[in-house]
Amino acid sequence: MKHVISAKHFTNADILSLIETAIQMEQIKKQGHGLNLAGRIMGALFFEPSTRTRLSFESAMLRLGGQVISTENAREFSSAVKGETLEDTIRVVEGYVDVIVLRHHEIGAAARAANVSAVPVISAGDGAGEHPTQALLDTFTIARELSRLDDLTIALVGDLMYGRTVHSLVYMLSQFPKIHFLCVSPSTTPLPRDVVDFATTRGASVQIENDLGRAAEASDVIYQTRVQKERFHSMEDYEAVKGQYIIDEHILARMNEKAIIMHPLPRAGEIAPTVDADPRAAYFRQSHYGVPVRMALLARCLA
Ligand code: CP
Repeated sequence: MKHVISAKHFTNADILSLIETAIQMEQIKKQGHGLNLAGRIMGALFFEPSTRTRLSFESAMLRLGGQVISTENAREFSSAVKGETLEDTIRVVEGYVDVIVLRHHEIGAAARAANVSAVPVISAGDGAGEHPTQALLDTFTIARELSRLDDLTIALVGDLMYGRTVHSLVYMLSQFPKIHFLCVSPSTTPLPRDVVDFATTRGASVQIENDLGRAAEASDVIYQTRVQKERFHSMEDYEAVKGQYIIDEHILARMNEKAIIMHPLPRAGEIAPTVDADPRAAYFRQSHYGVPVRMALLARCLA
């Protein structure tokens, strides 16, 4: 594994092997002594805001004994502001670090960076495109919480058009047998056609379901998402779709006892805080799984 650009590039065997490594990483994290990535440096280039992805990648690298240099808000505080191209930035930074973690606002930016980089590039999200490492930790979450990755009904809820974590999750889970996606979204933000086609070509089924309560009754996983305000061309369009699907105690009451609620976070009102205390609310545990999963990825990329 060199670059990590798309969830489509992970084979079933890659995913299972990374999950196994991440389980070992949970132990290493608990014991507090990491593998020897001493002397290795991760560069984190973030052109868009982040809490979870940047800090969990940094935590993962530090826990493995490596070091981190980073630029957050690179759109404003890197030489991009002087007109430097992404490609030139990567050609420079590759000389400073052993792996680059890149979040960028443009679809395809991670692939462009990988094309010119001598060191591994790991995408931390490219605009409304993909977020492959989130998909890996989401898949890990399902494996951890439900003890299986097949025969699953997953309700994808919210902004499925601009929600990059959803695209990557569909690509990744479609690798496994008997996967059924229920798409619960406003009509103006459906799951993109190419993502649906990828899933169905791999044997997953994709169905539109406008009723969140009905989806809750049928699902093993409810994957709630934020409406991606920053991707909308007009505030009017955003206001028209926000708040259409909210998980609250009424939805909880219709869920299976063993089902879980996931969310890549941050949330912006689409899960009521009263849901947090329910054991089926897995989203904070999910965010914590980001560290062992990213430890596994870094160890693999720098092996
Ligand atoms: N899930 C996720 O990508 O969160 P951040 O934007 O905080 O990194």
